[in-house]
Amino acid sequence: MTHELIVNGTPQSWSENDEDVLLWYLRDGLGISGARFGCGIGICGCCTVLIGGKATHSCTARASMLAGAEISTLEGLAHKSADGTEVLHPVQQAFLENPLQCGWCLPGHIMSAVELLQQHASPSPEQLEASASRNLCRCGGYGTIRKAFARAVQLRREAPQ
Ligand code: FES
Ligand code: FES
Repeated sequence: MTHELIVNGTPQSWSENDEDVLLWYLRDGLGISGARFGCGIGICGCCTVLIGGKATHSCTARASMLAGAEISTLEGLAHKSADGTEVLHPVQQAFLENPLQCGWCLPGHIMSAVELLQQHASPSPEQLEASASRNLCRCGGYGTIRKAFARAVQLRREAPQ
């Protein structure tokens, strides 16, 4: 069995000889290592990627079930401006301004915030809180995480359309 899936806009093939757990397919198969391993059982969220725009735990997702799916990871967020300068996604910029301690949980929070901004141009406090608290941080950086989410919303509002 072979099929194609799209990772950060690039078609990739998956065959039954490849890793089936999406996290390991991305990391070991494609060398896309933004999503990280934490619990492996769908609890901590540090392996979060977007599948069809929905924040999903890649440690419990199966590449074999994702024919044609569009997958986004941390690596696909920044883009190049016309002069070739790298432009960070507002969520990346927000976390740069609000650094965490060890940062192991960071990719998951970033992808959750990206989902939030894609779904809600102006999220309510409740929507922001639900998204900012969905993933675990073993360093207890939840105050900083909430600040970064709020800053990302502000940066998105200020960004030229
Ligand atoms: S490693 Fe996937 S949810 Fe923890
Ligand atoms: S900053 Fe260390 S796990 Fe979150």
